[in-house]
Amino acid sequence: MEPKNNSVVSEFILLGLTKSQNLQIFFFLGFSLVYIGIVLGNLLILITVAFDSHLHTPMYFLLANLSLIDMILGSFATPKMIVDFLREQKTISWWGCFSQMFFMHILGGSEMMLLVAMAIDRYVAICKPLHYMTIMNHRVLLGLILTSYAVGFVHSSSQMAFMLNLPFCGPNTVDSFFCDLPLVIKLACRDTYVLQLLVIADSGLLSLICFILLLFSYTIIIYSVRHRASGGSSKALSTLSAHITVVTLFFAPCVFIYVWPFSRYSVDKILSVFYTIFTPLLNPIIYTLRNQEVKAAIKKIRNQHINSKHNLNLRQRIIFLRFLRTYFLS
Ligand SMILES: *[C@@H]1O[C@H](CO)[C@@H](O)[C@H](O)[C@H]1NC(C)=O
Repeated sequence: MEPKNNSVVSEFILLGLTKSQNLQIFFFLGFSLVYIGIVLGNLLILITVAFDSHLHTPMYFLLANLSLIDMILGSFATPKMIVDFLREQKTISWWGCFSQMFFMHILGGSEMMLLVAMAIDRYVAICKPLHYMTIMNHRVLLGLILTSYAVGFVHSSSQMAFMLNLPFCGPNTVDSFFCDLPLVIKLACRDTYVLQLLVIADSGLLSLICFILLLFSYTIIIYSVRHRASGGSSKALSTLSAHITVVTLFFAPCVFIYVWPFSRYSVDKILSVFYTIFTPLLNPIIYTLRNQEVKAAIKKIRNQHINSKHNLNLRQRIIFLRFLRTYFLS
């Protein structure tokens, strides 16, 4: 792109996660494994939910949608960061930088709302079990999911609309491993006070409100589970504790960074690893390793696969034997 008069910066320089040369190689290997884990783990959930009709319930549709978001969200910053570990000069074009911010905020916002939807689903399942299927019918479920994506899209577009005409003329170094919105805004050569307030109101409030909503709904759920000593309550509590772990890991860094986005601390770079890389990795681990239903479904799909391979071999062998017989006996 041709640099214009008032915006001479056409690319940004990322400082990456670390400056140490030895750590770069170590991180390259470590995060490559993590990224493979993100893709495989979330694919496993998507495939399991799609192919096992026992898992065609609102909770698992929500979980599959969360995995889809996690897989895409994990793919915006992580692969570039991994390649960058091996490069001396880590640059990103203006377009690359802005699309990174745009898509990461769409998916981040959608993920937050989806976690709220999952909490609503758990609330209905645990506190109104007899009406679960009528309340969480397909239209309500689809509505919740579409609302999540819509909120993410509106949230991100409303921020980006104000960023597109920011002039960049001065330093272009971003002290992170991806284009983090507050860091990029600080590089603009114009007073960005109003924009900063907008980002706090937009990203900060969204994460804070979702977080408070979640804490509130989980408190109600736990309260009602503990006052009802029924058989299913320990299973409910174990599902809940998985949800609460995910929610805390995802929201605590987001709230910390986006409620005070422009007074950066040195821990911010490390914290952003949590919501860009660790949450997408942890979701499948927490949900599959701790969930009997998912584990049983995975085992079943694997057995079916082995059986079909076995049958195929048998059939092939029979055809081969017939072939030999006709060939030699005729
Ligand atoms: C997301 O949820 C919708 C609504 O129930 C469902 O039809 C769809 O299969 C889910 N998406 C994925 C990727 O599982």
